[in-house]
Amino acid sequence: MRIGIPRESKAGETLVAATAITAAQLTTLGYEVVVESGAGFLADQPDSAFEAADITVGSADDAWSCDVIVKVNAPTPAEIGLLRPSATIVSLMAPARSPELVEQLTAAGVTALAMDAVPRISRAQSLDVLSSMANVAGYRAVIEAAHAFGRQFTGQVTAAGKVPPAKVFVVGAGVAGLAAIGAAGSMGAIVRAFDVRPEVAEQVESMGAQFVTVDMTQEVSSDGYAQEMTAEQEAATAAMYDEEVRAADIVITTALIPGRPAPVLVRAETVAAMRNGSVIVDMAAANGGNCELTVTDERVVTDNLVTVLGFTDLASRLAAQTSQLYGTNVVNLFKLLTPGKDGQLTLDFDDVVQRGITVVHDGTLMWPPPPVQVSAAPVAAAPPAEPVAPKPPPDPRRKTYAAALGAVTFLALAAYAPAVFLNHFTVFALAVFVGYYVISNVAHALHTPLMSETNAISGIILVGGVLQVGSTNPAIAILATVAVLVASINIFGGFLVTLRMLEMFRKD
Ligand SMILES: NC(=O)c1ccc[n+]([C@@H]2O[C@H](COP(=O)([O-])OP(=O)(O)OC[C@H]3O[C@@H](n4cnc5c(N)ncnc54)[C@H](O)[C@@H]3O)[C@@H](O)[C@H]2O)c1
Repeated sequence: MRIGIPRESKAGETLVAATAITAAQLTTLGYEVVVESGAGFLADQPDSAFEAADITVGSADDAWSCDVIVKVNAPTPAEIGLLRPSATIVSLMAPARSPELVEQLTAAGVTALAMDAVPRISRAQSLDVLSSMANVAGYRAVIEAAHAFGRQFTGQVTAAGKVPPAKVFVVGAGVAGLAAIGAAGSMGAIVRAFDVRPEVAEQVESMGAQFVTVDMTQEVSSDGYAQEMTAEQEAATAAMYDEEVRAADIVITTALIPGRPAPVLVRAETVAAMRNGSVIVDMAAANGGNCELTVTDERVVTDNLVTVLGFTDLASRLAAQTSQLYGTNVVNLFKLLTPGKDGQLTLDFDDVVQRGITVVHDGTLMWPPPPVQVSAAPVAAAPPAEPVAPKPPPDPRRKTYAAALGAVTFLALAAYAPAVFLNHFTVFALAVFVGYYVISNVAHALHTPLMSETNAISGIILVGGVLQVGSTNPAIAILATVAVLVASINIFGGFLVTLRMLEMFRKD
């Protein structure tokens, strides 16, 4: 089959659905790829780059006459008219919000696959274009904010005075929010973030930001997205928003519940109380915005000199990067759709991912797909269990008894055991004690370096064991053999685990 990559017709669009690299990857699946001349120019992919990768560059007609058309933006009615009757079109479509488009695609008798309808399940992450775009957009939101902000992000002490670090407040810690947190933190800002899903606190904190808490919980729907807040929850968060936004230099809002208008979280009176020169980047502008003053695709400057940016093309402002990621998502989709690597696109509707993205199949309406159960959703509540008798609380004297037993054993050993044994035993007991407290307090993120350290200790044990293994005392020989065995397992097991982890970061 031939895949056509036409030039995007949307005004100002810089993206292209395939780069020279991803187009070449599509050919390894057995497809012939035809790119419209100039399609990749604004994404740093000139015709010559495609030609160098042995990809055919042709006219618009050449691209649109292919069996499969891959685009970034949804096709216009005129573009739908260019499709062959049995063609397949793959692009962003927002099918839930575009009933007219779905109708036109159905009437055209084509097959339409929506790249933005990929269910948010772990298996489908590699084709999730919304995540790819939100990730780039979150980064770019920080760059836009830094550009509009009249100060630097990082704090400094200079001969000309002290520069405080910028304070950034991120609302919504989904893909875009986390990318913004990472970018702002790496530029030296102090970052705080809030999300209605308290379970993201760990991710926020792992990126060096502080998670702002409000005493409330939020439901997650079966498709992995947050549900709308109740009036009570909204009231509980209003005071927090007011306080956090006033204190911030930069506010980046990403709050969204799919299929609904964006919640208005930053009120005009709160913006009026912000410091002069502060910046708000409203990433939810396309859906109405999280800030009351946002104007879609505009830069608004308030009377108190707060800049409110409502750009909806943040991902397109990093065209080369986003096109590469979009193209890779497309390649991953085609890997799924081309199990035989024979250039023949096949759809398997038993697969929730393929079913989820199919809006129209050969002129038959397939939208909406059945709901997908994902891991992010809460598991159904278990039926009430039989009442169980409460466990008696542990005896508070338990620890005292244990300490007394330990002390008596130690005194008995001290009285009868040889002095050398006692020395070793004391060191051993202290090592167990210190080791227990050190290891139990190590953060999860540091477990890998900790593992390397235990490998080093195992090395010492191994040397000691090898020296003692030939002892004439059978007890020592047996203990030394066990030590050699256990230490070897730890060392070689450690190497194997490390090797596996490194493999995960290795490119194909
Ligand atoms: N402006 C652009 O160029 C651009 C580009 C890409 C994405 N976006 C937009 O960025 C936004 C975020 O995208 P995403 O992929 O990160 O979505 P996401 O679903 O991964 O994240 C949204 C987050 O907002 C949280 N949230 C929902 N309601 C909230 C509330 N009332 N208060 C606080 N948090 C709330 C959710 O729990 C979730 O974590 C979307 O609006 C998307 O359309 C904009």
